[in-house]
Amino acid sequence: MTDEIKTIKKIERGMTGEIKIPGDKSISHRSVILSSLATTPIEIKNFLRGADCLSTLECMRALSVQIEDDGKNLLVTGHGLHGLKEPESILDAGNSGTTLRLLLGLLASQRFFTTFTGDKSLSKRPMGRVIRPLSKMGARIYGRAGGKYLPITILPASKKIHGIAYEMPVSSAQVKSALLLAGLYSVGNTTIFEPYPSRDHTERMMEAFGVDLERRGNSITIQPITDEQIHAPETIEVPGDISSAMYWIVLATILEGSDILIRDVGINPTRTGAIDILKAMGANIDLTNIRTSSGEQFADVHVTSAKLHGTSFGEEIIPRLIDEIPILAVAAAFADGETVITGASELRVKETDRLSVITTEYNRLMPGAFKDTDSTLTIIGGRKIKMNHCSSHGDHRIAMSLAIFGALGEGVDIVDPSCVDISYPEFYETLGS
Ligand code: S3P
Repeated sequence: MTDEIKTIKKIERGMTGEIKIPGDKSISHRSVILSSLATTPIEIKNFLRGADCLSTLECMRALSVQIEDDGKNLLVTGHGLHGLKEPESILDAGNSGTTLRLLLGLLASQRFFTTFTGDKSLSKRPMGRVIRPLSKMGARIYGRAGGKYLPITILPASKKIHGIAYEMPVSSAQVKSALLLAGLYSVGNTTIFEPYPSRDHTERMMEAFGVDLERRGNSITIQPITDEQIHAPETIEVPGDISSAMYWIVLATILEGSDILIRDVGINPTRTGAIDILKAMGANIDLTNIRTSSGEQFADVHVTSAKLHGTSFGEEIIPRLIDEIPILAVAAAFADGETVITGASELRVKETDRLSVITTEYNRLMPGAFKDTDSTLTIIGGRKIKMNHCSSHGDHRIAMSLAIFGALGEGVDIVDPSCVDISYPEFYETLGS
């Protein structure tokens, strides 16, 4: 929390031209983690230098991985699957759930001692969901409040961990990825079932490294691997982050007279739920120039303005748009009619309780439009808009969504605006331009 306030003014004209967005946050984390397990140097292009990914980078350095950054690309030189070394001090995951959960999986099987800490928000987020299955695999992981929260310590594994069959109670790419990383080191196979498919970047990147995965419907089986079986790529190209692109897609859709092109956006089908929903609401979004690199699909996204109408969607699609609900709620506010989002309880355990923060803060800009109950968010579009002070509560996606809301409405003063650094350090600069 800072005393800083960012004033965003109403935008009067349509938005035209090309926008370059930063690298994908999820893929940036995974690119550094998996490259650290290879024996050959790997160049990473378009790595996101947001605070979350820098947390992962610093943790991997503390585990003795050599990472050079020439300001453009990263060069990661690992020492193989068993080359990580005991860190000399506590690892800090900052605000990043992905850093913490994925590294708990990676370190569960190591023969050394690690302790993790994180910021105030991360210290309130549920970690039992990853500690429980890792413990079933034989890992010795302990956390505050009986294994629920940070700080968390992993004791040196006294024997090899073993594979399990695990049915995840909620879809979560972070938990799934932690188990896949642990599964690389287990005795026997690990099989994971998810209620609905979450983002599959870990699976795709593991496959690009030669890991044998069997994917069937909502289940994945991973076989343990040896250094000899790893065929690391020389380069990983990180696509633009579709979650970051979504702020501009919504802005251009609603601002009359807009016509924009966003180049090199990742369009992995497990991430494009918000595009499907916006199209169902009437948006004009075209994907062109589709290509594949490092196992991921890229496209240029062309958006022109459109009149939106309300819609309903629920738990089945939530994992495919989990991070986009704050900005979709803004789109819904400017649409005709009502939008009902159900099965969204996972939003209560993100960087903030996003359903509650959306209702509290967005209602300051459009009074009476937002309501949350249990796992549902309801938005009545087209109500009267006003200028107001709103807090991001330190949540990057809330800060950026409030900025777009203000730009489309009557302006906004954002309290605690600098948290955009977590996933999109240049956000205000791009908005200003
Ligand atoms: C992420 C997975 C999602 C998402 C988060 C990043 C990842 O969380 O909300 O911002 O990189 O694996 P879940 O664990 O709920 O899928």
